[in-house]
Amino acid sequence: MTTWITICDTCKREDWDAGTHERTHGEDMAALVEKHAEGRQVRTRRTSCLMGCGHGCNVAIQAQGKLAYTLGRFEPNDEAAAAVVDYAELHAESETGQVPYRQWPQAVKGHFITRHPPLPDSED
Ligand code: FES
Repeated sequence: MTTWITICDTCKREDWDAGTHERTHGEDMAALVEKHAEGRQVRTRRTSCLMGCGHGCNVAIQAQGKLAYTLGRFEPNDEAAAAVVDYAELHAESETGQVPYRQWPQAVKGHFITRHPPLPDSED
């Protein structure tokens, strides 16, 4: 199953200022994640608000039938974007979506916000 990275493109960190920033921090983060995801085994999409506005930048990592995660508190930079993509690829390779801690890219440590178990397959 494809692992998707959903990037909030409306996040603004505390230091965001309309006078000095042309784009939201989320747009910057989305562009960086999209760049790092090119040619990798993950897909990306943007959304406006993951309801974690107080701790942007936020991204969600999801795949059908797997654990899903929200990560936040990222500064929009290459190191963070590369780590998100690396982590998402490990999520894609994992049967359950659970990536062993020893494999976590350094720059995602301390950035996990939520974890959601997958929905059951059937309607019962
Ligand atoms: S604006 Fe990014 S989570 Fe709300």
